[in-house]
Amino acid sequence: MLKDIKEILLTQQQIEEITEKLGKKLTEDYAGKNVLLVSILKGGVVFMSDLMRHIDLKCEIDFMVVSSYGSGVKTSGNVKIIKDIDIPLEDKDVIIVEDILDSGLTLSYIINMLKERNPNSIEICTLLDKPARRQSEVRAKYIGAQIPDAFVVGYGLDFDEKYRNLPFVGVLHPEVYTK
Ligand code: IMP
Ligand code: MG
Repeated sequence: MLKDIKEILLTQQQIEEITEKLGKKLTEDYAGKNVLLVSILKGGVVFMSDLMRHIDLKCEIDFMVVSSYGSGVKTSGNVKIIKDIDIPLEDKDVIIVEDILDSGLTLSYIINMLKERNPNSIEICTLLDKPARRQSEVRAKYIGAQIPDAFVVGYGLDFDEKYRNLPFVGVLHPEVYTK
């Protein structure tokens, strides 16, 4: 698996520092609030599981499954909800926990959909941000790291459902996805 990685962008240690810092910030910002962490499966699950242990608040978690990608490396813009949140959002302060904000098409669709359910508030916490590729207005209030426009894998992020279990974030050799 390692031979398919061209370069490591975030080491395990750097990711640990990021999740700790973001967890502390969320703990401060959401004191006294009714936090619901929503992870977008599957990519967001590794980040969520580390981040939530750095949040010192009583909070709930839930999951959504959406699909917008197929097995390619570009978003189709076609978002399909495969599993929705199970509980009403009316009194919740929702934090969407994502692996990466790329074109933003997936998250802008989800945010618009969830806003109609009148949550107290809704924000995005993303491990990675690829601002160069943004196609929608969506903004994340909490960002772990900005990265250049390269296809990355690891720490939840996949190519063709593989590499999610790498403990770091790395750039895939282009030969792997162009062949
Ligand atoms: P967006 O709708 O283009 O912002 O991307 C949504 C989803 O595409 C993310 O949650 C990821 O699952 C996936 N994605 C975007 N960029 C990458 C990447 O560089 N590597 C792996 N998955 C990616
Ligand atoms: Mg994906």
